[in-house]
Amino acid sequence: MPLENRRGLHYSDLSLTLRALFTAALITLGLGYCFAMVQVYETHAGLDGKTGINANDIAIAYGGDAHNNRLQVALLGPMSANAPSKERRAIMDWAADGANRAEYDATIKAIVDNRCIRCHDGKTVGAPSFVAFDDFAEMAKPDTGMTLATLVRVSHIHLFGMTFIFFIMGFIFAHARMRPAWLQPVVIVTPFLMMITDIGSWYLTKMNANFAWIIIVSGGVMGIAFSIEWFVSMYQIWFGRAPVDEDGR
Ligand code: HEC
Repeated sequence: MPLENRRGLHYSDLSLTLRALFTAALITLGLGYCFAMVQVYETHAGLDGKTGINANDIAIAYGGDAHNNRLQVALLGPMSANAPSKERRAIMDWAADGANRAEYDATIKAIVDNRCIRCHDGKTVGAPSFVAFDDFAEMAKPDTGMTLATLVRVSHIHLFGMTFIFFIMGFIFAHARMRPAWLQPVVIVTPFLMMITDIGSWYLTKMNANFAWIIIVSGGVMGIAFSIEWFVSMYQIWFGRAPVDEDGR
């Protein structure tokens, strides 16, 4: 019998105890996956100002948005009540134009002194000081997305964590039976490859926003592999048979 046709252990060959363990792990990992999807949505949707999640949001999360800065985020959001819209627009335009000193002295400083300094005086807890020009200009720097240090930290957490998840999923799923025979190892290995293209593209997206598409495709393919592993395993654990075919499998 050719090696690849040799039958491994099927769920129906396993004890009830092991099948119960596999089922429990599938349920919690499946729930974990759902929460992970909600988390991805929550942290990325709307970053580009439009509702929902798209490639732009992903590109902004990793690569930043040259048209955006902390002043703009604050003035459109939590600080919007602190100055009339004309003055807020003047500050945002100044920030977008490169935050130069001359224009600050000519027009912006008066607005800041009038509307902002009473809290941003360096004494109010939580509010960054705007007394010195440099500290205020710091808020106008373009958003550069996730720092390299953050990406490195998140990369190693993801690689370790996801290897655990997909090793457990793959180990459980390895006890299923699938036709054609090559499909099963492909489904098992795919998420590991997608982990690498996904994480690699985080760094590439910082240089070129188009790589956001590889992040999306990798995530999608990973999700498909996870679903196949989950549903095929769950079904075969409880309803699967392991018939011996003509070729002995
Ligand atoms: C009533 C007090 C108050 C006033 C007035 C005020 N701020 Fe703030 N601001 C805060 C506090 C408190 C924080 C820190 C907490 C937070 O981020 O909401 C803050 C945070 C900020 C931040 C930092 C956000 C970040 O990225 O960390 C910016 C930028 C900012 N304010 C801009 C302004 C500008 C510009 C004005 C004037 C038009 C202004 N604020 C007026 C209280 C104030």
